[in-house]
Formats: sequence, C-alpha cells, structure tokens
Amino acid sequence: MEEKNYAPIAVDLEKDKRYAWCTCSHSANQPFCDGAHRAHNKPPSLGFTVEEDKQAYLCTCKKTGNPPYCDGSHNNN
Ligand code: FES
Repeated sequence: MEEKNYAPIAVDLEKDKRYAWCTCSHSANQPFCDGAHRAHNKPPSLGFTVEEDKQAYLCTCKKTGNPPYCDGSHNNN
C-alpha cells in the first residue's frame, strides 16, 4: 500500500468569510474544496467560518477529530 505523509497546511483565515474544507482528499486546492468530490461521488465539503482573523493549521489527512483543524491525527497511522 502506498504511504503518503500528510501534514497540516497553515492558512490565514478572515473573520466571517465562508470557507469550504475538502473532506474527500481529491481536491487539487488542499485544504480547500475545488468540487472534485462530485466526479468521485464523495461527500461534499465542510463549510466553516471563523470569528476573528487568524492563522490556522487545516487538516489534509482527513482523519482529524476536529475538522477542519489538524489535531495531530496525521501522526497516527
Ligand atoms: S493533517 Fe493533522 S490531523 Fe490531519
């Protein structure tokens, strides 16, 4: 089985802006949705906003228990 090393992506998030976090791993615009889930018949993105401008580490492994944020689960294979 192919192993891929995942790591969170640091992004600058703006207060009240609506974001769509990729839940299916197929987006070419990680960690955000690019609509690729439709072609792969996968669940849609997770929409979220933040209450203040901030930098955050968004999950790319899709195993986080606190989506869309990295919770360190990428270290647990
Ligand atoms: S990238 Fe860290 S939990 Fe997914």
